[in-house]
Amino acid sequence: MAMMWAGRFSKEVDAKVNAFNSSIAFDARMYKQDIAGSIAHATMLGEQGIITMEDSLTLIGGLKEILADIENGKLEFDPNAEDIHMFIEAELTKRLGDVGKRLHTSRSRNDQVALDIRLYLRDEIKAIKKLIKELIETICKIAKGHADTIMPGYTHLQRAQPITFGHHLMAYAQMLLRDIERLNDTEKRMNVNPLGSCALAGTTYNIDRFRTASLLEMREPMANSLDGVSDRDFCMELASALSICMVHLSRFSEEIIMWCSWEFKFIELDDAFSTGSSIMPQKKNPDVTELIRGKTARVIGDNMMLLTMMKGLPLAYNKDMQEDKEAIFDAVDNIKLCLVTFIPMLDTMKVIKENMRNAAAKGFINATDCADYLVKKGMPFRTAYKITGGLVALCISKNTTLEELPLEDYRQQSELFDNDVYTAISLETCVKERKSYGGPSPESILAQIDLTQRKLGEIYG
Ligand code: ARG
Repeated sequence: MAMMWAGRFSKEVDAKVNAFNSSIAFDARMYKQDIAGSIAHATMLGEQGIITMEDSLTLIGGLKEILADIENGKLEFDPNAEDIHMFIEAELTKRLGDVGKRLHTSRSRNDQVALDIRLYLRDEIKAIKKLIKELIETICKIAKGHADTIMPGYTHLQRAQPITFGHHLMAYAQMLLRDIERLNDTEKRMNVNPLGSCALAGTTYNIDRFRTASLLEMREPMANSLDGVSDRDFCMELASALSICMVHLSRFSEEIIMWCSWEFKFIELDDAFSTGSSIMPQKKNPDVTELIRGKTARVIGDNMMLLTMMKGLPLAYNKDMQEDKEAIFDAVDNIKLCLVTFIPMLDTMKVIKENMRNAAAKGFINATDCADYLVKKGMPFRTAYKITGGLVALCISKNTTLEELPLEDYRQQSELFDNDVYTAISLETCVKERKSYGGPSPESILAQIDLTQRKLGEIYG
């Protein structure tokens, strides 16, 4: 098959090179954006008198028909086409004859592809943000029901201080809010118009790049034509934002995996979101969360791929950049798959409060509160810390807990101890009194949920 650019060549390109060079297998998904870009371009060409108004309208009509035919299945992508841009232009020319050949006036595939990816990712960011919003709402709903469900908070995976399950969940809501903000930023910087950069050096035609920007609902034309065709920052930025979001999902997944284990048994996943073993009849595995953890590696890999692919490229376009699409599409596809599955999995999980409460009752997680009790009676914190450490050691040697240690043992360490120490160190008090802004008390959790919902309303646009 003779290529569109065959004029300069005396031989046909080797079939292996054609197959190697072709990107239609993975860029066909941008057909809608390619057609939208071409319609804006044809409109501008007509308005500027670069082509006649009649040709402009014919081109737009032809492009709309191609779009309809792709969507209703009448037109199939030609796997031998070089890419989606060539495919649509060739189809247009097949349908319109010479008029079709006017579309590419003062345009190159270099600015065309830079535009198409931006338009495509702009839509994808919207879809991803919508899913993250849904996840935040699900977390808020569950947290509301567990504003007073006591569980141990950990550092170094060692029981540390008492918190509530609502508090733990709402930490993820904050991370996800920042993920939406990062996507907002990415979207803002991405939504600028490279069209009219042409191959690299702009054009001698009197084009109007502001007009195509406004037709495509983009903020402004990109200020430098070399940058317009060379910039893939927006792919790297999106891949970074998605990697961070995936890391959040991965940490959450890791915790769910632990919480499902018999060692914790804080939660149980719904059967519909668990899998079995082919040999061990008793097994119920949290495959979904493990796969999310695994796919996080993949999205981070996509991010690394883009950075590495770009780092040595001279300006302007280089064919290496064709590789951008598979990486960024993979990242986008996979985060959506993860979110779509994670949300209902979380929504249907069963929380086993008693096991959380039992775990919180062990491990001396009220020791800080015991020291604080002495501080509130006038003792300096460091002294109180030391005395409480001694009490913990005593409990360990007697195989008991601070709650059960007799008052004489307390008073032997300090005369400041009284009967009210038992209320002060009860887990309920420890949690209820942690009312500091952002803390785990039930009232603080309800405030955090309110704040999160308000913030979500502000940033989700
Ligand atoms: N398929 C190409 C890509 O994705 C389109 C741009 C081709 N431009 C060129 N000068 N060969 O990057």
